[in-house]
Amino acid sequence: MDVTFTVNGRQASVAVDPAEPLLEVLRERLRLTGTKEGCNEGECGACTVLVDGLPLDSCIYSAAAASGRSIETVEGLTGLRVDHLAVIDFAGFEALVDAVDGIDVATGNGPIVSHLDGEAALKFVRQRQAEPLGDLDRVRQEQMALRALLVKTMSNGVLTDPAGLYRLLDAARSSVGVDDTLTNGRLRAVAAELRKVQPTAVRFVQAPIERWGSEGSQPVAYLAPYATELWSALRSDTLDTYLYQHSTG
Ligand code: FES
Repeated sequence: MDVTFTVNGRQASVAVDPAEPLLEVLRERLRLTGTKEGCNEGECGACTVLVDGLPLDSCIYSAAAASGRSIETVEGLTGLRVDHLAVIDFAGFEALVDAVDGIDVATGNGPIVSHLDGEAALKFVRQRQAEPLGDLDRVRQEQMALRALLVKTMSNGVLTDPAGLYRLLDAARSSVGVDDTLTNGRLRAVAAELRKVQPTAVRFVQAPIERWGSEGSQPVAYLAPYATELWSALRSDTLDTYLYQHSTG
């Protein structure tokens, strides 16, 4: 069947199978590869697009259902193409933390640092209700845990001890999902580049959020107007200037 919809402001007409996911049409026919295939089950959000302004998982949304609608992908929203994506699930995160014998993070407001095994670390990054800023605090906790994982991986001999390295790679192989265009060769190159990185120099950047709200039944975060500065900084490789102007932790 033929369907016509608008993608990033332009009309597109394509012949689709009735059950063909929108994700496939966007990536394979329209070459909008910034929309990623991750879990393919509506769980990870890697394939999210806006359909008539509502966020939807394009892996479980049929292209036929998009007929006559307006679709926005990451390319249309930001002017950027996302090259690659890596996803880790709960069990994988737990396994990675255990593979480096636990991580050290400040779990309270004070300077006291706790040593967490995989199970405790997962509980830490998932806790939400107790935190005043809800999801934003959860993001902060996830960043703290990732930094601690990075520090532990790049120190304490994990990368030089053959047994430790084997445990880590084994956990990573079975835990981390990557998009379908990220090859082993590219992954090896990234790993080699990472050896030169100081964990303490790593900065996490979050899209600036102005307020929370809802669209239909979907809870959504509305971006602050200066989010466009972040997209341009990524395009022009001037993220250091953006970070200087907007301290994001
Ligand atoms: S939610 Fe669609 S790929 Fe994961």
